[in-house]
Amino acid sequence: MPTALAPGPIGSAPAGRRPTTPALRIGPHTLAAPVVVAPMAGLTDRPFRRLARELGAGLTCTEMIAAAAVVRSPAAARALLDLGPEEHPVAAQLVGGDPQMMAEAAQICVAHGADLVDLNLGCPVPKVVRLGSGAALARDHARTVAVLAAMVRAVPVPVTVKMRLGWDERTINAPELARALEDVGVAAVAVHGRTRSQAYRGEADWRQIARVRAAVRRIPVLGSGDVRDPEVAAQRIARGDVDGVVVARGMLGDWHFLEHTVRRLGTGGSPPAPTFAERLALARRHWDAMVDHHGERLGVRRARKFVVWAIRGCAGAARLRQQVATVDSREDLDRLYELILAAGEGPLGWQRPVFTSGEG
Ligand SMILES: Cc1cc2nc3c(=O)[nH]c(=O)nc-3n(C[C@H](O)[C@H](O)[C@H](O)COP(=O)(O)O)c2cc1C
Repeated sequence: MPTALAPGPIGSAPAGRRPTTPALRIGPHTLAAPVVVAPMAGLTDRPFRRLARELGAGLTCTEMIAAAAVVRSPAAARALLDLGPEEHPVAAQLVGGDPQMMAEAAQICVAHGADLVDLNLGCPVPKVVRLGSGAALARDHARTVAVLAAMVRAVPVPVTVKMRLGWDERTINAPELARALEDVGVAAVAVHGRTRSQAYRGEADWRQIARVRAAVRRIPVLGSGDVRDPEVAAQRIARGDVDGVVVARGMLGDWHFLEHTVRRLGTGGSPPAPTFAERLALARRHWDAMVDHHGERLGVRRARKFVVWAIRGCAGAARLRQQVATVDSREDLDRLYELILAAGEGPLGWQRPVFTSGEG
């Protein structure tokens, strides 16, 4: 079995060990760790979120959901807002740009169990920005304020936003926008330290993220972008650059990264690096959860990309990767797991996947 840390609040640290970072509060919620798992389209479904919570994440979030879809169809809302009682606190992320529709969609999220509602102000993809949503909405200060004001009025739970630094390097507006959103009642701001023009290229600019933290008065600011090192994350919080961090691609294929970040920002401990078998066992727990939750056919399909990420650095990875596309059943998945385990770790060890795209 995996070596997952026992889940639980940071306050449950062993005697003599104090949490190293201050508690992160968003509205009435005191998070168990200042570590939020990013919304990631196509990835952060209920099995993903549940495992993240078990590993100690303070908050998880659905992938972005089109407000129009949840408002127009109760069946779509049910499917998209698949929030479980085991997940609290959990946020639902909406994308859209019409104040009334966003208010209505926020209410539907709460009716389906969301403890927080987040607005996506960072999605860079053309099909979203063409509609004036995501990163395009954030360019229009007045409309963004109107949308958030309507959402805050509509629901009794905290409304948060996830934004980029700005549209491009000449139009960085995150500090001013965050301050204006604080004034209409937004409860927390997560900032991805890239512009829309950058998409996922280059490095996230944490000095700019810190400027957002300096611009707001009361609400927490979370930093997103290239969170890869628990020690660096701890330093950024200790310096007061941010109140918490958002973990995204850094945990894909590497559940222990999330677990270690939670531990470092909680009790200050640094667990030893996982063995190959431990890493694989945790990955397997997630694949199995997807099959249990989505059913064999869909679950196995959804598991495939996670299998590819998990076997990076495995001896004979190229050959094993070819087999992933042929995996169609739980039995196939079990067989592949045994093959991977038998192959063992290659000379370079596990390698973080290289990603060039996303949606936030
Ligand atoms: C596959 C993928 C899907 C994403 N989907 C969303 C999304 O639905 N909503 C959102 O706000 N951000 C989304 N993002 C952006 C992440 O939440 C995060 O801000 C970004 O990846 C930067 O963090 P990182 O450099 O640690 O990956 C996505 C990113 C990836 C890689």
